[in-house]
Amino acid sequence: MTKDYYIVVLISGRGSNLLSLISNANNYTISAVISNNQTAKGLTYAQDHGIPAFAFDRKDYSDLTKQKEAIFKKIDELKPNLVVLAGFMLMITPQFVERYRNRLINIHPALLPNFPGLDTHQRAINSQCQEHGCTVHYVDEGVDTGTIIAQAACPVLKDDNAETLSARVLKLEHRLYPWVTNGIACGDIWLEKQSTQYSKRAIDSAIELGFRIQKL
Ligand code: GRF
Repeated sequence: MTKDYYIVVLISGRGSNLLSLISNANNYTISAVISNNQTAKGLTYAQDHGIPAFAFDRKDYSDLTKQKEAIFKKIDELKPNLVVLAGFMLMITPQFVERYRNRLINIHPALLPNFPGLDTHQRAINSQCQEHGCTVHYVDEGVDTGTIIAQAACPVLKDDNAETLSARVLKLEHRLYPWVTNGIACGDIWLEKQSTQYSKRAIDSAIELGFRIQKL
């Protein structure tokens, strides 16, 4: 059955979060997957599941601005309810953030506000963090600064390196991202005055699953 809440997922590479969003699409329909890179493995997941996939490869555009314009024009045409960034490595323009404010979310592999930006796992190890994890947040004009929606945490173990830690966090990402996206799609999670709001059902579910939300 098609659910009439439509999301577009933006990827650049591996696409494991995309696959989890596909496998757990209870309350939303993925109307398209868009990549800035035609070799992104995630595009094959879309094709395998009959989801329209569009690649806007850098080599087909004279400059980065034109490439981004083409991507954002396509998203506008698709008229999604929500734009979901899942490992999308291009910087989103302020104009696009403004147009999709509160309808644009991202997953970041750290417990924000700790470690925005890149290399989060190594930085968590270097900082001798006891715990690490991932965050789903609304996107604003800053780098990983938007209002937090939910987080999932795991311990950092004594022998961890960036690879072992990232694998542990990625498992959490695959649980957290569909949970948030389904919650937004069915109206259990929303933004009000820059603060994330949750229905009782979402709060109970976050407690049960061990996710951190702003109300707990
Ligand atoms: C994930 O770690 C996500 O948190 C970050 O980029 C990575 C994407 O991985 N934003 P994948 O392409 O979903 O496998």
